[in-house]
Amino acid sequence: MKIIQTKSYDEMSEKACELILEQVQKSEAPVLGLATGSTPEGLYQQLIDQYKAGNVSFKNATTFNLDEYAGLAADDPNSYKYYMNDKLFNHIDLPAERAFVPRGDAENREKECRDYEALIADAGHVDLQVLGLGLNGHIGFNEPGTPLESRTHVVDLDESTRKANARFFPSIEDVPAQALTMGIGTIMESGQIVMLVSGEKKADAVKQLVNGEVTADMPASILQRHENVILIGDERALSKL
Ligand code: F6R
Repeated sequence: MKIIQTKSYDEMSEKACELILEQVQKSEAPVLGLATGSTPEGLYQQLIDQYKAGNVSFKNATTFNLDEYAGLAADDPNSYKYYMNDKLFNHIDLPAERAFVPRGDAENREKECRDYEALIADAGHVDLQVLGLGLNGHIGFNEPGTPLESRTHVVDLDESTRKANARFFPSIEDVPAQALTMGIGTIMESGQIVMLVSGEKKADAVKQLVNGEVTADMPASILQRHENVILIGDERALSKL
């Protein structure tokens, strides 16, 4: 695992942006894996800035988001599809029909998960996957205990994850209890993984991710077994390494 320590959140976002630009520019049909949450917001703003400056085009790209809350439609302001439209997709030239996010409001969620896997397989594989890190070590919404070889599936969200994400909702009761997420096995098939971490509150999870035992109890620890992972973090997030 390559580790890049940055002085600030903005520098973390810049470094991640450089890696994505490189991937998009070198590939005729780049496939990107994207995350939501607070951590990649700066990265998405940088990508928009680079696009507006004419330095990159996403017209040949395809994107797959990691996850979506069960029951939330794309036009629900708390859905991850809404977040992606708002923070990135509406501001760049990525074709809307190639910006995939699991459909949270699909009638048959299990089928939606199978179809999502098939879409990723049709695209070849994800060239570069952006990840954030849950305080409990989750990646995507793969909570502790998720089998390391899992594929896209429906999950029950941990109480701690619902609490951590309640800041985006009117109250914790409004945070859905379930989500659809790419599996750990799915994520591990990406050509390159860029894990972004920022802030002191991530420091313990980062320590376990880098130096801890590889175990389903700490899903992110599996990244130790991937050949091409770049961990980009600010000083605070990396302070316990
Ligand atoms: C989001 C996702 C989650 C987040 C993680 C960190 O699509 O898959 O795993 O990356 O919960 O969230 P933030 O960045 O808000 O700390």
